[in-house]
Amino acid sequence: MEYTKLNNGVEMPMLGYGTLHIAPDRTKNCILKALGCGYRLIDTAASYLNEKEIGMAVVESNIPRKEIFLTSKVWVQDAGYENTLKAFQTSIANLQVDYLDLYLIHQPYGDYYGSWRALETLYQQGKVRAIGVCNFSRERFMDLWLNATVKPMVNQIEIHPFYHQDHTTALLRKCDCAVQAWGPFNEGQSDIFTNGILTEIAKKHERSVAQIILRWHYQRGLITIPKTFSESRMKENLAIFDFNLDEEDFTMIKQLDIGHSEIIDHQCYTTAKWLNKHKIHD
Ligand SMILES: NC(=O)c1ccc[n+]([C@@H]2O[C@H](COP(=O)([O-])OP(=O)(O)OC[C@H]3O[C@@H](n4cnc5c(N)ncnc54)[C@H](OP(=O)(O)O)[C@@H]3O)[C@@H](O)[C@H]2O)c1
Repeated sequence: MEYTKLNNGVEMPMLGYGTLHIAPDRTKNCILKALGCGYRLIDTAASYLNEKEIGMAVVESNIPRKEIFLTSKVWVQDAGYENTLKAFQTSIANLQVDYLDLYLIHQPYGDYYGSWRALETLYQQGKVRAIGVCNFSRERFMDLWLNATVKPMVNQIEIHPFYHQDHTTALLRKCDCAVQAWGPFNEGQSDIFTNGILTEIAKKHERSVAQIILRWHYQRGLITIPKTFSESRMKENLAIFDFNLDEEDFTMIKQLDIGHSEIIDHQCYTTAKWLNKHKIHD
């Protein structure tokens, strides 16, 4: 595994395992398989409703806690200082741990400034090793960055060959904030795995399209968290550290950028409405 250093010196794996849409009854088995394959970064969120099963798998794996990099996220419903502190306690109880490696604000909605102050408190108390945000656009990120006491260490945003987010990643780099790509495969949509350009590059390197995509992320310095149910794909997705994409490959993939998401539009007011309405607990 390759690691990157966050702005506070904490080392984070460059490739991890994503757990969105892994239902609780499948989670424990998936996590045990992923840990068995060598994944050491697990990305979850309170809203994925699978923290308990991830906690059980981590305990059952017998892998020392310090070898596993655990990320969770506070949901919009729990925005605000006190609510976020409470949500954090629930997450670590579910995960059966006494600290998180990374705690993120899941969405830039609700009282996320209150949440950020709570994350700063948790960080200063040593209960989280790093803190950050998800889905923060450039202007929201800059505003938070300017007003934060502890600067965000990670922004987890949608990035894949159809949506490069070059301006946002450049700004984050200037702010010494690591960029983590969610949906690294565009959630499998728009026939990404049979795309002509990606298939041609895959043939050239004798690799799968999935490996070409993950290598592209890696060479751009992005931390990725692909999700798969399949153990053979878990292994395939990890095997990307022994080949190189060249300039020609990058130029070809550049053509695929459509410049916006086909999964979610964070600029749209209906997204703000929908995410504010989505409740994950009573
Ligand atoms: N912060 C946020 O707002 C946010 C939003 C979305 C996601 N995330 C995080 O990012 C993680 C990854 O994103 P995602 O789960 O949405 O989508 P993704 O990783 O881009 O794509 C997952 C899809 O790709 C398929 N797949 C995986 N490996 C493959 C391979 N080697 N060959 C062919 N197909 C393959 C999976 O199918 P199978 O499972 O059938 O193999 C699944 O359909 C999430 O799990 C979550 O942890 C965060």
